[in-house]
Amino acid sequence: QEANAIQMERTFIAIKPDGVQRGLISEIIARFECKGFKLVAIKLVVPSKSFAQKHYHDLKERPFFNGLCNFLSSGPVLAMVWEGEGVIRYGRKLIGATDPSKSEPGTIRGDLAIVVGRNIIHGSDGPETAKDEISLWFKPEELSNYTSNQEKWVY
Ligand code: TYD
Repeated sequence: QEANAIQMERTFIAIKPDGVQRGLISEIIARFECKGFKLVAIKLVVPSKSFAQKHYHDLKERPFFNGLCNFLSSGPVLAMVWEGEGVIRYGRKLIGATDPSKSEPGTIRGDLAIVVGRNIIHGSDGPETAKDEISLWFKPEELSNYTSNQEKWVY
């Protein structure tokens, strides 16, 4: 099957400050990369508090919103865009349940985190949020369109 005949889906994935500080970048990237997903954008950024509030605007009425935004803006975040068939849904599966005490072993949060407030990674939860989050975090020219040789073996 021609890889370029498939309409490839994209999702926004971020390693939060705790994941970066704990040295889990390579471990987390490996899980997406080994699955066969393709990295199309990546950068290390310290988001401002107001940027964090924009990113989490859907949660602004929740009691943990302020702490969550302080946390996200407390240090470097590794922002990424990953591409592949079903990457939004499957990315969430790789990540695991929001609360790491309930995430299955084998998932990123299940294997690498313990509490909900320090769950190391973010992933878009649907096509609309993926689109919004990619455009919030990245300029169009920061997304690379390249053909990876692996694609003809993955698909
Ligand atoms: P949410 O969007 O519900 O989860 P997910 O990250 O799995 O999409 O919540 C966003 C983040 O808010 C979550 O990753 C961790 C934090 N959070 C808390 O600190 N306490 C909570 O009770 C919940 C539900 C989330």
